[in-house]
Amino acid sequence: MSDQLIRSVKGTRDILPDETKRWQQLENQLHYHLSNYGYQEIRTPAFEQTELFARGVGTDTDIVSKEMYSWEDQGGTLLTLKPELTAPVVRAYIQHNLARITPLTRLYYIDALFRRERPQKGRYRQFYQFGAECLGSPYPEADVEIISIAYEFYKSLGLNNITLQLNSIGSTESRKAYRTALRLFLEPQANALSEISRKRLATNPLRILDTKIPDEIELLKNAPGISDFLTPEDQRHFAEVQSLLNTLGIPYKIEPRMVRGLDYYTHTTFEITTSALGAQDALCGGGRYDNLVETLGGRPTPAVGFAAGMERLLLALEAVDKIAQEPQASVYFIAIGAAARSICSKYAAQIRLTGIASEVDLLRRSLKAQMREANRSGAKVAVIIGEAEVAKNQALIKDLSAGVQKAVALTDITNYITNLVQ
Ligand code: HAM
Repeated sequence: MSDQLIRSVKGTRDILPDETKRWQQLENQLHYHLSNYGYQEIRTPAFEQTELFARGVGTDTDIVSKEMYSWEDQGGTLLTLKPELTAPVVRAYIQHNLARITPLTRLYYIDALFRRERPQKGRYRQFYQFGAECLGSPYPEADVEIISIAYEFYKSLGLNNITLQLNSIGSTESRKAYRTALRLFLEPQANALSEISRKRLATNPLRILDTKIPDEIELLKNAPGISDFLTPEDQRHFAEVQSLLNTLGIPYKIEPRMVRGLDYYTHTTFEITTSALGAQDALCGGGRYDNLVETLGGRPTPAVGFAAGMERLLLALEAVDKIAQEPQASVYFIAIGAAARSICSKYAAQIRLTGIASEVDLLRRSLKAQMREANRSGAKVAVIIGEAEVAKNQALIKDLSAGVQKAVALTDITNYITNLVQ
């Protein structure tokens, strides 16, 4: 039988009913939190033209060079399941000319992404991100708004063991000078580099800093840092970001080697990590990307954003026991006999209209089995109707937490239950 069984694809996971409740809670909190900052939701297609990511994220990045799910469709178009959301959001922003509505566009998303990475705890091939993109402002206050959206969300959930890592990779001009310096440092040691790093040395030396090879990490420890190459203007921007973070009381740690793995960044880059997770400790990452709109064919538009893994956040919350489990149904109807079953269906529907969740038995089980199910479901109240209750136009209403039971006239049960549950 086992070779007949079709399983989910490696690196993908089913989110089963015992978990979806937490996802919904978190999603609701996110919609609330992000709207509170004036961000509006955007939803983009699951796949895009491959060219969008090649041009937007960069062909030398790990994501584009080895992690994308790409294919040519029947019409010969090259397509890719989206491995990140900034490029699709910017594509939509340009395509629908969102800038014409207002000079500052604040967008957020909660969506599924696809990257062919090596799966491990907190790292999947299909995963979910929430994120925000702020398009139109070149000022440090936009950088800090984005950082604080992420930081305050984690804080509001009670995550205390988080660290904000901050860096600036400057403007195009600063990075040009840095690239030259990095090349000068690495070229004499090119033989010690892997094939991919040697290739990147010619095309895009900053990407060598993404290496996971221990020998290369060691070698890079003595490499020049980007902070020494920032122009005075870039330094001013970075200093203002830090000063605003200080004003808001958001602590940070400067990480001079953090360049992030996507080519579109300029100026501020950041990550928030947590000690509640193992190797995959990045809860979120983001930064400024002042050239991306233009690279993708739009008018030059400064922008900044972040994206955060949903699974990693749930793992971190689990690690610190911060997820409240809500009961499934608040009222469980127990019916014995056909007449009782139809009465229960009628009143369950009435109770649901008041916004209280109700469940009925669909297996025609015994009283004892239905009672057991009522307790298992986590319901607060059981409504029991047997033949005797039908005859008297009554129901027995049991407060399952207090263990108290009372006979109530059918005409009064909706009111009675509403008072009991709320
Ligand atoms: P990223 O650093 O590639 O940035 O991803 C952001 C977050 O997504 C990570 O910090 C992590 O929490 C989560 N994540 C990434 N890969 C996986 C995976 N394989 N499994 C589970 N979770 C994962 C971006 O995607 C940029 N678009 C962020 C951004 C928005 N920059 C500006 N605006």
